[in-house]
Amino acid sequence: MQTLIFATNNHHKVTEVEQILGKRWNIISLKEAGIDIDIPEPHATLEENAREKSTTIHKLTGQDCFSEDTGLETDALGGEPGVHSARYAGDGRSFEANIAKLLLRLQDEKNRNARFRTVISLIWEGKEYQFDGICEGTIIEKNKGIDGFGYDPVFIPDGDTRTFAEMTLAEKNRYSHRRKAMDKLIAFLENVIREKNQD
Ligand code: IMP
Repeated sequence: MQTLIFATNNHHKVTEVEQILGKRWNIISLKEAGIDIDIPEPHATLEENAREKSTTIHKLTGQDCFSEDTGLETDALGGEPGVHSARYAGDGRSFEANIAKLLLRLQDEKNRNARFRTVISLIWEGKEYQFDGICEGTIIEKNKGIDGFGYDPVFIPDGDTRTFAEMTLAEKNRYSHRRKAMDKLIAFLENVIREKNQD
């Protein structure tokens, strides 16, 4: 089985990605790799932040790795919170405070359309590749459900009536931005490995 470092400290993301990959790949989180750093996300785009995380970990380990950056974009607020999703209500990165701020900012808005967007940055044999995934949906007015993380309790994906926080992991992964980006990553890796084995 191939091994890849997933450059994140977010255990929710690790669990989701492991569920998507099944037994195909062995994922090592930063904690499991013995790396204890908080990688900065200083840039104005998800693409640059994802690259910052993967290149930081590649420089430290010299190993193949990938990272991801995700943002929630609302139409009524011109794409807010977007790249600032994690620290929307401050550096505490509190899920509750972030949701409270979002619901307050949207309280008089009729247009509740929003999307999660994930950008994965993969460093494979020293080169960087990016893959994205989008999940369209709506923001409801009050939290519903207790599973998941982040903005899951207020986000209903198109095609369902439940929030992500009311779904099992497998159900969320049917719709999710992260799964769509992971599907592209997996297709890329399977292809390069197939080509390598043919040489
Ligand atoms: P980051 O990618 O770790 O910077 O996360 C950005 C913010 O979006 C954090 O507040 C996360 O909690 C939130 N977030 C990222 N992915 C998801 C998701 O799948 N569901 C709900 N919130 C998410």
